[in-house]
Amino acid sequence: GPVICVVGARPNFMKMAPILRALAAHQPPLPAVLVHTGQHYDAGMNDKLFVDLRLPQPDLNLEVGSGSHAVQTAEVMKRFEPAIDQYKPSCVLVVGDVNSTLACTLVAVKKGVPVVHVEAGLRSYDRKMPEEINRVLTDQVADRLYTTERSAGDNLQREGIPAGRIDFVGNVMIDSLLSNRPQARPGEQTLQAHGIDPSLLRHASGYGVVTLHRPSNVDEPARLRAVLEVLREVSEQLPLVFALHPRTRANIDRFELASLIDPARMAVLPPQGYLEMLGLMAGATMVLTDSGGLQEETTALGVPCLTLRENTERPITIEQGTNTLVGHDVAAIRSGVAEILSGRGKRGRVPELWDGRAAERIAADLFRWLNAGAPAE
Ligand code: UD1
Repeated sequence: GPVICVVGARPNFMKMAPILRALAAHQPPLPAVLVHTGQHYDAGMNDKLFVDLRLPQPDLNLEVGSGSHAVQTAEVMKRFEPAIDQYKPSCVLVVGDVNSTLACTLVAVKKGVPVVHVEAGLRSYDRKMPEEINRVLTDQVADRLYTTERSAGDNLQREGIPAGRIDFVGNVMIDSLLSNRPQARPGEQTLQAHGIDPSLLRHASGYGVVTLHRPSNVDEPARLRAVLEVLREVSEQLPLVFALHPRTRANIDRFELASLIDPARMAVLPPQGYLEMLGLMAGATMVLTDSGGLQEETTALGVPCLTLRENTERPITIEQGTNTLVGHDVAAIRSGVAEILSGRGKRGRVPELWDGRAAERIAADLFRWLNAGAPAE
């Protein structure tokens, strides 16, 4: 049967696009079916990215939408099970750490279908993060685990996963970045498209790009207020472009914090397409974020990144890349910004196997593995 490839939320799309192309390009081709759980559904969170990333329309959309973690996970499970009966897949391939990843993994293993996890083994060691639970549980039951950095393989082996199940292949998210880089949309065009004066980006120090959506940063009024206050302070030295996740936008309204944003210094945009984000990031002086993906993308682009989290599951971006953890400490954010603006920001280098060919390696290994009679030890 085919490989069922599962996507659900925005950060899955850029990982799956190169995988689908590599499965099709493999000789012989590996047949694949694309299932979208519908976890993300807004045009800005979904439709635009499919176009930008040249993703085919899903063969099946489960249309689960939003809900509590329990409801969302349960709905995906209920609706995904018939897809396995229908397609009789050789394996289910999941990426990343969103609720859809874990939900489809559970359904597959319980039906005796092997699970392949791309971006396995990343650990923040912070179990208050919903994604950490999704990562740990998915990896425990996955049959084939592809990693983006060597530390991930070490984490997995410490958790008792046999080394033979793990393959260090590199980073499919960077495959997408490298293949789309020439099409990236210049930041000034993106601002113009939203009726914002593009000269904002022509400040002597350049500009910064901001994204925030982690519950730990945006769900609590005092925390969100503190973060927006620091950003306002930063924007006095460096104009900012803030691409707002729907969760963050809703909370800014709900907690009545919109007055903390000075539109003359901070361009607030709806969620952006892939090519828009890529263009904005590539041209930025720095990125301030709590996203997992942006930590890696800035490292690949060589753009300094300040991560507003206490920990990261992607340590190579700190050790080798351009990423610095600043947590929620206002002083650390201030000094991080000052360092970058004075030209002393991290330069970093591109990590091993973040070379644009990770998906190709996955397809080659998967073909071998499936034909060796998966799951094997
Ligand atoms: C999810 C992932 C997170 C990832 C993020 C990227 C989990 C646990 N979290 O978080 O790891 O970094 O996606 O964006 O899976 N909403 C919309 N439209 C949409 C999608 C969401 O308005 O298309 C709003 C809804 O109010 C929803 C809220 O955002 O309740 C949260 O969406 P959800 O899918 O639960 O998690 P994210 O915060 O997006």
